[in-house]
Amino acid sequence: MFQTFFRLAPLRLLGLSPAGNVRAGKRIGWPLLNLRQIVLREGVRLGSDGWFYIPLSNRSAKITIGRGTAIGDGFAISCNNNIRIGNDCLIGFRVSILDFDHVVGFNIKPVSSGITIGEPITIGDDCFIGCGVVILHGVKLGRNCIVGANSVVTKSFAAGSVIAGAPAKLLRTFAL
Ligand SMILES: CC(C)(COP(=O)(O)OP(=O)(O)OC[C@H]1O[C@@H](n2cnc3c(N)ncnc32)[C@H](O)[C@@H]1OP(=O)(O)O)[C@@H](O)C(=O)NCCC(=O)NCCS
Repeated sequence: MFQTFFRLAPLRLLGLSPAGNVRAGKRIGWPLLNLRQIVLREGVRLGSDGWFYIPLSNRSAKITIGRGTAIGDGFAISCNNNIRIGNDCLIGFRVSILDFDHVVGFNIKPVSSGITIGEPITIGDDCFIGCGVVILHGVKLGRNCIVGANSVVTKSFAAGSVIAGAPAKLLRTFAL
């Protein structure tokens, strides 16, 4: 708690306003000029060596992490649109949540081609996202979903879905 206070103190001066009891690990990359667009609710826990990205010129993209959600080391949350993670989710280490793409095509150089406007990603309350998962633009996961380790989630699933694979497919559904 003490360490988090000192880690977040300079970020507060630049506009980050985390709720109470937020804990943040070491060496997190922050979009220093877009910190007002990151909402960390009460009790959020962030692992070390993670990375938040919002393009400098985008003043409307928003990342929201819900109350009590814990995210493991090595996360990447890259946002040009809107990423909303619900309350009390458990997100394993090395999880990537990416709501946009680079413009691609034959003879197009991805480094300089620019990025798409992306599509919002929503992860419901009480989800468990396994280690190494990648969640791509436009995905909506209902509450209480479970995503198997190393899955690539390319489409949306209803509440209570257990999904896995690349691309992720439905394994079973909890009775709601
Ligand atoms: C997805 C998961 C929850 C499923 O557990 P389960 O319900 O017990 O499922 P099973 O082990 O019975 O597997 C069911 C099927 O899904 C497959 N499967 C399970 N996990 C998978 C994964 N991550 N990727 C691809 N396929 C997977 C199994 O091979 C099996 O396939 P089959 O029916 O063809 O044999 C579990 O495998 C998993 O990946 N957990 C995440 C672990 C993790 O990241 N922990 C983080 C700690 S911080």
